[in-house]
Amino acid sequence: MSSSLKYTAAAASVLLLLSIGSCSPDDRGTSGPGEEPEKPNGEPDQLTSVDPSEVTGLDEREETSDEGPQIDVSYPEIPNADPLTQRLDDATSQKVSDFTSASADAESLTIDWDISVATEDVVAVRLVQEEKDSDGERTSYTTYWYDATSGHTAYSTELVGNQEDLAELDSLVKDSLNEEQVDASTLHPILHLYDSMGFNPDGDLVVEFDQGQIAPAGAGRVNATIPKEDVTSLLSDLGERAQSAATNPSPGSAVEDSATPPKDDTADGSVPGRLPERDDSVDCSSAAAKCIALTFDDGPGARTPELLDALAEYNAKATFFLTGQPAREHPETVRREYAEGHELANHTVTHSDLTTLDKSEVREELTTVNALVRRETGYTLDLMRPPYGATNDKVAQVSRSEGLAEIIWSVDTNDWKNRNAGKVRKEALKNAKPGSIVLMHDIHGTTIDAVPDILERLEEQGYTMVTISQLLGETEPGESYYNGHPDEDGEE
Ligand code: NI
Repeated sequence: MSSSLKYTAAAASVLLLLSIGSCSPDDRGTSGPGEEPEKPNGEPDQLTSVDPSEVTGLDEREETSDEGPQIDVSYPEIPNADPLTQRLDDATSQKVSDFTSASADAESLTIDWDISVATEDVVAVRLVQEEKDSDGERTSYTTYWYDATSGHTAYSTELVGNQEDLAELDSLVKDSLNEEQVDASTLHPILHLYDSMGFNPDGDLVVEFDQGQIAPAGAGRVNATIPKEDVTSLLSDLGERAQSAATNPSPGSAVEDSATPPKDDTADGSVPGRLPERDDSVDCSSAAAKCIALTFDDGPGARTPELLDALAEYNAKATFFLTGQPAREHPETVRREYAEGHELANHTVTHSDLTTLDKSEVREELTTVNALVRRETGYTLDLMRPPYGATNDKVAQVSRSEGLAEIIWSVDTNDWKNRNAGKVRKEALKNAKPGSIVLMHDIHGTTIDAVPDILERLEEQGYTMVTISQLLGETEPGESYYNGHPDEDGEE
């Protein structure tokens, strides 16, 4: 991994803006007319790399902080690529804030960078993040692609055409990672797993995974290299141009000024691997839809994957209210829940009665889980459930400022008390009606055992099992919701 940092190791510390690009259009000497085109650099299992000094006018931005954990962030600033710089600024800020919030004993975070591709119309910047906390050190990677012809900054998954192409790539990667160390079942076609992709000098697609993400951390950087001939049909227009730029570098060329103003990247719902905020294939405002929201708190638990299997069998969606420590212990389950279209929601770090805490403590309970989930899935939560359903004005205020609606329930299975699958099933079904929000806990084996029967019965009765967002539609941060009965006001 140290080789990937070779350009930046020398650039450590002090200067806020450090000029690295030594070439101006007048004095560049490496690529005059008639000279041999430069061979692309790089190993077969690495993204191509470009010497930053070959990129005209490149500067570096650096930010350092030692209040709290030691933070050292740097990223490049390339002339005519302002939207890319803005994205790097936003992304590094979010990474720093999520690391600091999510990790109770955060020690240090360093974000360094290298340039994978830099031609007139395509640029790729790879961020290398090294973090240290009580779990040890971990390195992760994110690569952003900039399309100078449109001014669009792309996620790595935009190198492929659409979600089906990403799913196809995911299965090629699973096949190629036939290693004992890698647990292929932890791979899913989601942006967060496929956020660092590029090409090697032969034009093969290189997919790299964060340390500890799909294999034990001791395995280091895990990557898959998908041969050019297998991947070409999956590439988007940008992906094809990126592949060509990686294999035909043009050293010393300046990035072209975008002809059109950049579009709003976040408004574009077409990023492969970033799931839609809300699946609106079901209209739960109509009583005929018979929507019901099954919710599972306090997990994930060791048997949550079994529950996910059962939900998949019935094509049922659910909502998982996650608690801090279980989410830290089962990150792969959190990612699977997200990847399979279930809704993730906040159930606090320590499962305390929030009404007994002061405002800053309530905030920390919520922001920590928000950060944990964003670090595992890239998804920003917009729902929370206060432990024990205990809420008050203070909790509502903090929830509102953190962008979270409060979701209570209308059917309590008391499954934590009734550790008996038959009883849990009975309680779940007894009071179920269209619009019900059913409370269960996926940390109890008896609940996991009850779910297949519950799903079967609900299906027989014509119910559609949906997420909270599908049931309620748009929710208001800070408001409390108890049910989504079509004939009643959902708010109480
Ligand atoms: Ni709970």
